Amino acid sequence: MKERRVALPVETGLEGLILYPALLDGAAQEALLAALRESARKAPPYRPRMPRTGQPWSIMQTNFGPLGWVSDERGYRYEPRHPVTGDPWPPIPAMLLDLWARIAGWPAPPEACLVNIYRGEKAKMGLHQDRDEAALDAPVLSVSLGDSCIFRVGGFARGDRTRSFRLASGDVLVLGGASRLRFHGIDRIIPGSSSLIEGGGRLNLTLRRVTKPQ
Ligand code: SIN
Ligand code: FE2
Repeated sequence: MKERRVALPVETGLEGLILYPALLDGAAQEALLAALRESARKAPPYRPRMPRTGQPWSIMQTNFGPLGWVSDERGYRYEPRHPVTGDPWPPIPAMLLDLWARIAGWPAPPEACLVNIYRGEKAKMGLHQDRDEAALDAPVLSVSLGDSCIFRVGGFARGDRTRSFRLASGDVLVLGGASRLRFHGIDRIIPGSSSLIEGGGRLNLTLRRVTKPQ
């Protein structure tokens, strides 16, 4: 009989920060990647810019869902439309909605799926908090695909002590409860650590509830 592998959450030592290593197996990662490629044809990745300065980020982004998180000279915010095409974002792929329903422990579906695309040695994301959402009691669910990265997590002030660990392809990380507002970021990508994405690189999907349910 084929043994069924069940991914168990790993204690990270921080309440509300839960890691599910390899929650998505190889086949699920391939299927998700195919679904993302299909949706990204309707919402092409673009390069976000820093608030005020307009400095370009080292990564590319796009979004799926009724709301998408955007960053440009006007600041950080959620928008119902793609900033370049002006079209509504495509729907969140069903696989991701299922994943949320299974592990988010939250009564309403996510409204935003931000896609972060890390390519090349310089791609990283500085320490930040996710706090542009009204529904701050809903967790943020983060899915990693492709090359591993060094994920850094701190406290609730920028200067607090931080620690780091690796996130690999298929890992799912939940930032919820007491850890919902922890500072976090991506130090770097580890080239050649996965063969999922042709030419290398890492994709990260973050599912978020933005508005409070009625
Ligand atoms: C994010 O904090 O928005 C992305 C984190 C990641 O790429 O894993
Ligand atoms: Fe974040």
